[in-house]
Amino acid sequence: MRQSLIMGNWKMNGTRESAKSLCTAIMAGLNADDKNIVICVPAVYLADLQTLTSNSPLALGAQNVANQASGAYTGEISASMLKEFDCKYALVGHSERRTYYGDTDASIAERFCQAQAQGVIPVLCIGETLAEREAGETFNVVNTQLDAVIAKAGIAAFANAVIAYEPVWAIGTGKVATDEQAQEVHKAIREKLAGLDATIAENMQILYGGSMKADNAKGLLAMPDIDGGLIGGASLDAQSFLAIYRSI
Ligand code: 13P
Repeated sequence: MRQSLIMGNWKMNGTRESAKSLCTAIMAGLNADDKNIVICVPAVYLADLQTLTSNSPLALGAQNVANQASGAYTGEISASMLKEFDCKYALVGHSERRTYYGDTDASIAERFCQAQAQGVIPVLCIGETLAEREAGETFNVVNTQLDAVIAKAGIAAFANAVIAYEPVWAIGTGKVATDEQAQEVHKAIREKLAGLDATIAENMQILYGGSMKADNAKGLLAMPDIDGGLIGGASLDAQSFLAIYRSI
């Protein structure tokens, strides 16, 4: 049976001090036997937070990972570097990376593989824009984004990966997908995977992201194919983030 997973994506927010206090406040709300709770933090804060979280159930993740192992790639951070800081997860293909920094399906597939090669679990982010949804293209878009990674990494690689469905129109907008809208896409993603490998599909953690808050999390997380959340804004407040985690 797959386990639920709650991940915060802090994006480019905070200061060194506020990152430490947010992390401390989240840990204060956790019990020793809690698990499957992760914060994806700005890379420059990883060292501080690695120390803080070393004996805590709270795991660390990165918001991106390089598409190469090492070398002359100015500004990039490799999977092996992330591993040094106990990053268990790395987001790949977040829509903000796709939109503002030109991450393509091809480079995202490379990032996915680089993360896995170092034992960092990639969290593949996929999702359609509002225009794509209105044009009836949601399933095509999501399938294309998935296919690019399956073609490069192979379906077996998804045994050690997470998928996050994040409709672009719901990110940071306060416009959350309805429980049914999200479930419909999650189900389609799982069915697509099942066509390639039934066991991987059954075990795949598929997270929902996009304006998930304490007051809408319960309904979303109760859907049969929604296995957790990737939370932006609400993960910047320890009590909101913990409330979402407790609503599993
Ligand atoms: P919000 O929760 O702020 O909408 O952000 C979602 C997101 O992009 C998480 O990766």
